[in-house]
Amino acid sequence: MLLAGCLPRWFVQVDPPVAEPKPSATRGRWLLLNKSFLKVGLPLRLTGALYPVSLEAEDGPTLLGGRDGLNDLLPTGYTGRMLGPEVAGATENCLLCHAGAVRGDVVMGLGNAFVDAQLPKDADLIDANRLAKLEPTPEELAVLDAWKQYQLGVLPYSRATTPGSIAALYFTGYFFAHRSAETLDWVEEPVYPMLETPPPETDVPAWWLLKKKKCLYYGCELTGDFTRSLMQFMSVPGNSGEDIRAAESDFADVLEYLRSLEPPKFPGRVSSRLAEAGRAVFNERCDGCHGRYGELPTYPNRVVPLKKVGTDPARSEFMHRLKFAEHYRATWYGQNSKMQATDGYLAPPLDGIWATAPYLHNGSVPTLEALLDPSLRPKYFTRGRDSTAYDLERVGWEHEVLDHGQAAEPDPARRARIYDTTLYGKGNQGHEFGARLSADERRAVLEYLKTL
Ligand code: HEC
Ligand code: HEC
Repeated sequence: MLLAGCLPRWFVQVDPPVAEPKPSATRGRWLLLNKSFLKVGLPLRLTGALYPVSLEAEDGPTLLGGRDGLNDLLPTGYTGRMLGPEVAGATENCLLCHAGAVRGDVVMGLGNAFVDAQLPKDADLIDANRLAKLEPTPEELAVLDAWKQYQLGVLPYSRATTPGSIAALYFTGYFFAHRSAETLDWVEEPVYPMLETPPPETDVPAWWLLKKKKCLYYGCELTGDFTRSLMQFMSVPGNSGEDIRAAESDFADVLEYLRSLEPPKFPGRVSSRLAEAGRAVFNERCDGCHGRYGELPTYPNRVVPLKKVGTDPARSEFMHRLKFAEHYRATWYGQNSKMQATDGYLAPPLDGIWATAPYLHNGSVPTLEALLDPSLRPKYFTRGRDSTAYDLERVGWEHEVLDHGQAAEPDPARRARIYDTTLYGKGNQGHEFGARLSADERRAVLEYLKTL
């Protein structure tokens, strides 16, 4: 493996551009691509002995560019860092989930519909035979052990049932349960109990929508200044309270960058006549919740009660059950922003909606066509790993509809790729607003949505 040799420190861990007096989007982008914000990670030389991580750079989709030193050789979701005086390593970064491929291109800020958190049972984390053959040094073993402890701690809360689905609320809730309200340091004894329930898994929202939003998260739970909220991922073990606080100015740059992002343009052909007709329907039936687009854009930031939108309630309810929001408010994170459970879901802005399949907060609907016509929504479906398999007519992932769910699938590899809407939190019901349109109106609205 290319990375196995002895690597110079400057190549592994690149120095950031100096901070500017005002938040800088350019620096924010650099930080996302090149700076490690975590202290637990993998010793590069030993990755061959680990499951499920591969640090070979992806081939296939074009990459983002702008990565310096070792980072240019790593997959987008990992950043190089010295994890000990002599241990060259790599840590996870935001782009593991927040850079995704569609139609062969990796797009910054697009939720990664292929990120796979179907993590192994604890025993399979490290292959002992392969590890022994690599003759690890004591320093490498210490780094590996910290990584293993991190994984073992979080696994019960982060395991997902399909690629593209992430149990973000549950595992972040776990990290925060171990953060002292006073010092923000890691504490062994959890501050509040974790729940005995499967986690509600969600899709990853697109970052380019941030510039319109007055609140964050699917339930619109976070209001106030967003900067610290962007740093929740820093609450993983390994970072001290001081490490977290010290990164705030970096994240002001990151936020500036996220607010500068634009959605990718629809790459196919659009009938402008049909799209115009669709705009008229949209502006009559949908704009009250989703706003208007084009010359004079509006966006109401509306939270729609569960009863009205009717989509799967698990993600929203979970926020009430886990004592996460309460504790968040009591920490440094809650000093200039407020986390609070709500009783519904935010009607999101629809900019770049063509690229963000699957749809709804839980990714339960593979295409926009099926989002608009509930009778077309598959109960069970499976899709491949190829980002070019994107259907520009129905707008969304090409997929195969199945006649059975995960429980009835004997082959584990196939089972792991079945989106099963009968599982907890994964229902595809609700948002019936498109069903009230005629077939012609739906076709027109679909055409219009391509242009946003
Ligand atoms: C393991 C995957 C994962 C990683 C890593 C991750 N996120 Fe997220 N992020 C998510 C998911 C899933 C959500 C949606 C959570 C919800 O609302 O339930 C989310 C939500 C967000 C939002 C809110 C978006 C909105 O429109 O409401 C922001 C901003 C964000 N993440 C920024 C970051 C930053 C910055 C990092 C790195 C420090 C990061 N995320 C790391 C998965 C991830
Ligand atoms: C009463 C408010 C309301 C109306 C009216 C409404 N929507 Fe929505 N819409 C929502 C909410 C809330 C969500 C998020 C639901 C969820 O994720 O569980 C949503 C989600 C969506 C999504 C999926 C977004 C994503 O990122 O996955 C699309 C597309 C959409 N709506 C299009 C439309 C269209 C087109 C119309 C008009 C025919 C419409 N909506 C009417 C509230 C509304």
